Amino acid sequence: MSHSQSSETLLLPASPDNIERAAALLRAGEIVALPTETVYGLGGDATNPQAVAAIYAAKERPSFNPLIAHYPDMASASLHGDFNPAALKLAQAFWPGPLTLVVPRKSGCPVSDLASAGLDSIAIRVPAHPVARALLAAAGRPIAAPSANRSGRISPTTAAHVMGDLAGRIAAIVDGGPTQVGLESTIVACIDDEVRLLRPGGTPREAIEAVLGRPLVAHEPAEAHVDASDAPLAPGMLTSHYAPRAGVRLHAMRIEPGEAALLFGPTAPEGLGHAVAALNLSENGDLGEAAAHLFQYLRQLDASGAASIAVQPVPEIGLGEAINDRLRRAAAPRP
Ligand code: TXA
Ligand code: MG
Repeated sequence: MSHSQSSETLLLPASPDNIERAAALLRAGEIVALPTETVYGLGGDATNPQAVAAIYAAKERPSFNPLIAHYPDMASASLHGDFNPAALKLAQAFWPGPLTLVVPRKSGCPVSDLASAGLDSIAIRVPAHPVARALLAAAGRPIAAPSANRSGRISPTTAAHVMGDLAGRIAAIVDGGPTQVGLESTIVACIDDEVRLLRPGGTPREAIEAVLGRPLVAHEPAEAHVDASDAPLAPGMLTSHYAPRAGVRLHAMRIEPGEAALLFGPTAPEGLGHAVAALNLSENGDLGEAAAHLFQYLRQLDASGAASIAVQPVPEIGLGEAINDRLRRAAAPRP
């Protein structure tokens, strides 16, 4: 790792030349933030333990929490992961796209043990974003990439968010504009005969279940691991996460004086006139639009200085499951 903490972080607009430049930095073991269709990722060479350690250091992430390895396509992914019939079906249906598959590691898989936190499984994602795909193809190796925020903070959906959290800590940020999906990938484990939902995300549960022809099995309850000092059973499923500075109050039917309001749908809640600031995730109740706005709006309302953000109810269907998951984490007691 030649990059020093005090160096400046390059902001690289996503031109072909800059993608080559970013790929060269990644091959040299540097840490580069990259756009995906879900959120910006903090990329490093997954086969290089020093690069993986530098990701954990930049994020201040507890190192028991394993990282997703990103590949340009199924052909490269299937060299390192063992895809059972269910995993194959899901990969064919949803890749490239916002779905991560946790599968057994193949023997000889060069992904560093540090990236998978010593597990004998590997989380694999083939993103759809054209800049991510071009960068992965140019890098020629799997890229480990957690969301490009400091641990516990709101995930970044623009290059400016990444700069705000990580400037001076990483070599470069490839700017591909705002991300389209706005929520992290759905994570599904295909390890044994069951297909388990580890994290709801950008691919709705209903779409996955329709392809499988059966329901997804639930992951371990999140209550089992409440703080960052405990080794979680399902890694990464820490209760408090995505935490804005302000408190977050869910299922708000009215806005109290001094609160900021995060709205959903056409119906204004009582007391909206008192709000310090108000943003509507989607005025016509479109969950895709709401997902794309969620993290940006949480940041903006947090910046209003309000002590509390009141959130109107969002239905628990389609992308609403992932939106509500992130909102519950934002509202959870802080460790
Ligand atoms: O959309 C996304 O998934 C983004 C973009 C950048 O690709 N990435 C992302 O990564 O959200 P991260 O590190 O914030 O979340 C990865 C999750 C963590 O909760 C981690 O515990 C889980 O994946 N994970 C990784 N490897 C795993 C494994 N072998 N078994 C179970 N969970 C795993
Ligand atoms: Mg994250």
